[in-house]
Amino acid sequence: MGLGIAYVAANVTQLPVVLMDISKEQTDRGLAFMNKLLEKDVAKNKMTSEHANVVRELVSTTNNLQSLDNMDIVIEAASENLNIKSAIFNDLDKICKSDCILASNTSSISITKIGAATKKADKVIGMHFMNPVPVMKLVEIIPGLATDPLVVEQTKALATAMGKTTTVVKDIPGFVANRLLMPYINEAVMLLESEFASAEDIDTTMKLGTNMPMGPLTLADFIGLDTCLSIMKVLHENTGDSKYRPSVLLQKYVDAGWLGKKSGRGIYTY
Ligand code: CAA
Repeated sequence: MGLGIAYVAANVTQLPVVLMDISKEQTDRGLAFMNKLLEKDVAKNKMTSEHANVVRELVSTTNNLQSLDNMDIVIEAASENLNIKSAIFNDLDKICKSDCILASNTSSISITKIGAATKKADKVIGMHFMNPVPVMKLVEIIPGLATDPLVVEQTKALATAMGKTTTVVKDIPGFVANRLLMPYINEAVMLLESEFASAEDIDTTMKLGTNMPMGPLTLADFIGLDTCLSIMKVLHENTGDSKYRPSVLLQKYVDAGWLGKKSGRGIYTY
């Protein structure tokens, strides 16, 4: 998702972007994927080769968080884990200039909690992009308890400049997108777990019966079963409501390392 965000920022806003990951292999993979996207758009006459070259020049990479000391905004897109995100925000707080906006692309973790890992919670905000970022038009904006209203406006303006439509959501578990989407996916896995229908029939029902672009189980594999499980756990633990209990089968798949498309096996085999 980090690459998708960097790609759209450079392509649409034409602003310089630094893509950061601790692993050089990951930033190299990101650049290679961006090149594939650019080549596809040039081949389809959706973009000139000159524009593609401008985008390539706008995106640089780093494997050192320290190099982000001069950024105006950092959009974090690390794993969906509070400890990892808190550690990153704690470091960003020390590294980034004082007026830098610190945004998280978290899909469900409390922005207020992430903000508490810093000494400038007023600059911390949720900027929730949808996957695949170049295609999906929405960004949920989530102010934490202490977020400065000016930061909300600046973040909305950036998302709009990236060609996205924004919604503003209070800092509740799952925000709106995943508060609705994940119980739907979880329920589909529960139907599968109970052997009430095959995976294919569950997906076909929703794809052809309700015009969803993907059935819920294909979508779960696409998002990553580990991500779906983490989000369900956030909903369950933070609301205490049993209606968010994660499916046992979902937990089993994750335990087995069957994480979906990215690991070659999930609900389906790839
Ligand atoms: N990155 C960039 N572009 C991509 C892409 C990717 N990973 N995957 C597909 N695309 C582009 C394709 O290149 C293609 O572009 P062109 O029209 O320019 O050729 C376009 O998307 C359509 O792709 P396809 O023709 O291959 O396939 P499709 O028509 O079946 O669409 C899809 C693919 C857009 C993914 C569609 O199936 C879809 O909308 N699925 C649902 C996606 C969804 O619900 N996303 C939200 C997930 S939840 C989330 O992200 C939040 C969270 O916190 C978990």
